[in-house]
Amino acid sequence: MTEAAIQQLLRTAGEARRWRDSLAPGVRVGFVPTMGYLHEGHISLIREARRRVPKGTGHVVLSIFVNPTQFGPNEDLDRYPRDELGDLEKAAQAGADIAFCPLDPDEMFSKASATWVEVPTLAAGLCGASRPGHFRGVCTVVTKLWGLVRPDVGVFGQKDFQQLAILRRLHADLFLGGEIVGMPIVREPDGVAMSSRNANLDPQSRLDARAIPRFMAEVRRRFFEQKLRARDELLAEAAARLAPGVIDYVQLVDAENLQPIERVERPALVAVAVQFPGARLIDNTVLTP
Ligand code: PAF
Repeated sequence: MTEAAIQQLLRTAGEARRWRDSLAPGVRVGFVPTMGYLHEGHISLIREARRRVPKGTGHVVLSIFVNPTQFGPNEDLDRYPRDELGDLEKAAQAGADIAFCPLDPDEMFSKASATWVEVPTLAAGLCGASRPGHFRGVCTVVTKLWGLVRPDVGVFGQKDFQQLAILRRLHADLFLGGEIVGMPIVREPDGVAMSSRNANLDPQSRLDARAIPRFMAEVRRRFFEQKLRARDELLAEAAARLAPGVIDYVQLVDAENLQPIERVERPALVAVAVQFPGARLIDNTVLTP
């Protein structure tokens, strides 16, 4: 096997812009924005970007930027795991050839920066309710990154279902161009959704986190086998099932507008956020009648 390597590492917004401007018309660009500490979930996004932009037809850009504006004051910005060298190797193996990794947070949010992008209707509930300002930070950084990279296709994970829904809305509303693609959740062998934050769980909490996929499996069983449709029937005893994690939210929402619903009549989402010592984990499952 030949050792794949990132061809170009871009460190500043100016470098990213000049690289993009240097491409001949018709050269396609796939884009996977991340905050780094790549796991198999990210790898599936890079592979998908490469599948859609095969070698010889264009480039796959990975960005790594731990965006301070999407973390609240008491959140885990300082503890967010980082491994740039390892990430670049993994990304190259998966098919990325360009990396944009700004070293300085001011590169994306200069002191003069004063523009914010928000999708308040979709950001009001779920993670937006417990993490005020989070999606404003996500929307703003993704808009900036999209403007620099100008991808034909940007690939995002469905583990962050609300983020994906918000970014689809933003992308359509601001005529950002190109296409947004969502990819299924990738899980560890024991069912826990892959997340960079899993690295911050102590061993006992990592074991306890299996309660989340078990809960999701039970909800799916009630929905698909028992044909239950009412919110209370589907989510009954959630607190007990998710213990010893502390529930931030467990909700049944419409999969399109993310509004809470009482019954599943059309595609719906069960979304959870559970706090464990070391990390707050999210997960979701779509129920389609
Ligand atoms: O999903 C993430 O890792 C981040 O929210 C994103 C989209 C890279 C923006 O910082």
